[in-house]
Amino acid sequence: MKVHLIILLFFSLCIWTQDAAYLPSIYGMQGLRISCDTELQLKYVRNYEGSLGFDFIKIPRVLQKPIEVLVVAEKLQLFKNNLIANGINYEVFLEDVGAHIDKQFALEYDERIVNPKNEILKTFPLYNEITLYLESLQNSHSDILQTFTIGKSFENRDIIGVKISSGGSGKPALFIDAGIHAREWIAPTTAIYAIKQLAENASNSYIFDNIDIYIVPCLNPDGYEFTHRNSANRMWRKTRSTKKFSPCVGVDANRNFDFEWMTVGASSNPCSETYAGVTAFSEPETSALRDFLLSKNNTIKVYITFHSYGNFLLHPWGYTEELPTNEPTLRCVADKAENKLSQKRGTHYEIGSSTNVLYAAAGGSDDWAMGVAGIELAYTMELPSQRYGFAAPRSEIIPVGQETFEAIKIFAKYVEGVK
Ligand code: ARG
Ligand code: ZN
Repeated sequence: MKVHLIILLFFSLCIWTQDAAYLPSIYGMQGLRISCDTELQLKYVRNYEGSLGFDFIKIPRVLQKPIEVLVVAEKLQLFKNNLIANGINYEVFLEDVGAHIDKQFALEYDERIVNPKNEILKTFPLYNEITLYLESLQNSHSDILQTFTIGKSFENRDIIGVKISSGGSGKPALFIDAGIHAREWIAPTTAIYAIKQLAENASNSYIFDNIDIYIVPCLNPDGYEFTHRNSANRMWRKTRSTKKFSPCVGVDANRNFDFEWMTVGASSNPCSETYAGVTAFSEPETSALRDFLLSKNNTIKVYITFHSYGNFLLHPWGYTEELPTNEPTLRCVADKAENKLSQKRGTHYEIGSSTNVLYAAAGGSDDWAMGVAGIELAYTMELPSQRYGFAAPRSEIIPVGQETFEAIKIFAKYVEGVK
């Protein structure tokens, strides 16, 4: 009896300490914008990539553009001192991430109260609201829209998607996913906006006369739900998988795809924000996506994945600075999409390969889609959320949805042209 009690106590202690250890606190965390004047300085800052307590938002390769990083309170002073010692300039663009997030979070949940009918896209929906909404669309638009699941998440949630099709088989297809990173809430809503438009607006039906469209709006439902639970979790990025004897939770799903896995910009430390997993496709969410894309027998011509934030329209490769051979086509289609999108309200995107524009990071879904699945064009769209960072206010849901839909139509046109 006594032994049992001790064992029980031991395990609850383990679980407790695990819980306490893995969640970097957002309180006192700051957002720093760093400008380097020399390659040496850039190299110095890059050394922090993947380090605990450092969450890099952007690390451009060129000196002229600033680096953005979120740094936990405990590491701030030393880091700032080191920057100064190396003659590197920085400014604080977010004084206290926690305070900022708390404010946004409270607002978000106030908005829920004024949304009694649970209208989709009035607020950032919970995962079960997304699922219910997509199922209701299937009922009301059964002629063109069907839901499907690509598999289950680690915590056993169905990863739901919709197929929008006017029928027939073997048509070329456009595939879109969103929410691979938990905290990037504007990504799932943008995908849902597109689904809503396609389902409800008959005037869009020309889009799918000749093509099929698949949209999986929330690829990492466990992480997404976790970020909704309370404001301290709002900045969670990874999946929510646990492993025996591992001190930390979750894998960066966008470092977990099996193409040049773990070669650059990914960490083997389970506690890092960019932890690539024990193996490629260790996560049920990424392997479900892999299986789904492969099951479509090369009908998918364009792959788009929504992230936030940054106003970047990125194409492969993310693992090397070399460009794919079809870079001219990637750029040309992206240019058209950006041009159309920007006409809506003047939002501009920077276009280029992930490595050259944002940072090098291997194991991303876009690289895998083009490099392994044989999909012609793959893009990562870092949606805008202006100065709000990840915590875009709900007032951005519709405008970002609308403008992004313009780009989606261009990608759909490209798919249609593939014969
Ligand atoms: N912000 C995204 C990430 O960190 C960018 C991914 C771009 N694609 C890539 N293969 N690196 O995951
Ligand atoms: Zn992301």
